[in-house]
Amino acid sequence: MKSAIAQLKTALQRAMAQAFGPNLADTDPILVPTSNPKFGDYQANVAMSLAKQLQDKPRAIAEKIVTHLDVSELCDPPAIAGPGFINLTLKTAYLENQLQQFQSDPRLGVEPTKTPQKVIVDFSSPNIAKEMHVGHLRSTIIGDSIARVLEFQGHDVLRLNHIGDWGTQFGMLITHLRQVCPEAITDSGNVDLGDLVAFYREAKQRFDTDADFKEASRQAVVELQAGDLDAGKAWQILCAQSRQEFQKIYDRLHIKLIERGESFYNPLLPDVVKDLDASGLLETDQGAEVVFLEGFQNKSGDPLPLIVRKSDGGYNYATTDLAAIRYRTQQDAADRIIYITDAGQANHFAQVFQVARRANWIPADVELVHVPFGVVQGEDGKKFKTRSGETVRLKDLLDEAVRRSRADLEQRIATEDRQESEAFIQTVAEAVGIGAVKYADLSQNRTSNYIFSYDKMLALQGNTAPYLLYAYVRVQGISRKGGIDLGNLGTDAQIHLAEDTEFALAKHLLQLDEILAEVERDLMPNRLCQYLFELSQKFNQFYDRCSVLQAEEPQRTSRLMLCDLTAKTLKLGLSLLGIPVLERM
Ligand code: ARG
Repeated sequence: MKSAIAQLKTALQRAMAQAFGPNLADTDPILVPTSNPKFGDYQANVAMSLAKQLQDKPRAIAEKIVTHLDVSELCDPPAIAGPGFINLTLKTAYLENQLQQFQSDPRLGVEPTKTPQKVIVDFSSPNIAKEMHVGHLRSTIIGDSIARVLEFQGHDVLRLNHIGDWGTQFGMLITHLRQVCPEAITDSGNVDLGDLVAFYREAKQRFDTDADFKEASRQAVVELQAGDLDAGKAWQILCAQSRQEFQKIYDRLHIKLIERGESFYNPLLPDVVKDLDASGLLETDQGAEVVFLEGFQNKSGDPLPLIVRKSDGGYNYATTDLAAIRYRTQQDAADRIIYITDAGQANHFAQVFQVARRANWIPADVELVHVPFGVVQGEDGKKFKTRSGETVRLKDLLDEAVRRSRADLEQRIATEDRQESEAFIQTVAEAVGIGAVKYADLSQNRTSNYIFSYDKMLALQGNTAPYLLYAYVRVQGISRKGGIDLGNLGTDAQIHLAEDTEFALAKHLLQLDEILAEVERDLMPNRLCQYLFELSQKFNQFYDRCSVLQAEEPQRTSRLMLCDLTAKTLKLGLSLLGIPVLERM
């Protein structure tokens, strides 16, 4: 099924070509939803933008387009307003008919893409021996949602976890552990990540102050790189330990990822440098091998270098990303590569992308995108910390969200005098708590900083997960109360729209495909959140105005169908955000 907006766009382009010649067939008709329903559902603003080119008044241009415009299947006769807006109102019969078809369509009118791509989403990517922090949590939640939307649209998505599992930090960690806690890096080794993080901190401190320790650490890195068994074993144990902890978080958040950490690219690094040399990009700068960047200057206006091999012969984060991008385009044959990290890494990616393109590793039609996000702040506007000033452990953060959602739930159960089992309470508290954390993150414009507030994210009112989940539960309540199987309303069940709130809800239900196409293109999950929030609002307005179970036929069945479609849309939309729905809460 083609969306209304897509059909209207095609019709407008055909009309423009007929009115002004075939060279206008590809012109964007600038079709947008109207800001006010009194102007109809959509408006095309193209007449204004064509005025100069066609040397005519916008209104006259709009009139000519409308004479050729055939949208009679979808719309009431088009109207021209103001300086030359073309206003379009969808026909009632069209709306009813479309919704009717959604009833039996698990994709709710969203067609899979006709041009499936191989897409890599590089997200989460915490570092071994360090705690996963709130930045990684943002990357994990946003990346998972973007991957889900792209998968649903029909793309072949590879979800990669670019774990920080290689580099000089292992030299110092292994050296330190050999001295203070050798049992941690033997077969039976079993330190928890919390300890590991503490060891890491101590090691770093020694590395910065103790020359002998520094030397021993260097030596350990060399051993590791040279494939020394003992050092390799220690490294593996450390990785396994961290991996186990990370996996607990992923399980709890229902996140699927394929680990391909930095170490995976280690054997490919010398080739990267060789290749850059062969393409004439490599230069030597103060003993280091570098590529001088275009468009990045230092204070005195000289081009900045991207270091690919340090003067001590070691490689760095950028070299690894160069190897990764080369591998992903050449071996994985990716058409689109999406990196999800905080905005602080924007320059890093711009530089890596530039060098990879200049090295001719990237086919021209391959899209490289950095998807940046802002920092997580506490309610005081400062960096998100515990009360004593420590970084917040993700496990504690999730536990706290669930603890609070449980307290809210228990209170509601008490006030409503309900009897609920412990299993019910646990399931609901976990789903709402985790859902709230995810939704709070996703509903923000990801580029801005985001203020973390348990109270706001768990509120039953406002743009929150509980509000959306509750709208879904409301529909399930109607079906339980009326003893109605919403999935089985009969083949002759029909939609009849009459009330304003029914129209508003119906039109909103028809926009899911437009929204998903937008998220697919712009990679902004907050658009989907906003859509689902408005859907819940429109549903609640409809339900407050229109009786459902008490209504007469054929209204009753029609309204039950609207309820059902709302629930299905919420369920699908939330699933694309990684949030499962509940039947009761
Ligand atoms: N490990 C990095 C960090 O914690 C993120 C890696 C992002 N992905 C990449 N290909 N560089 O900041």
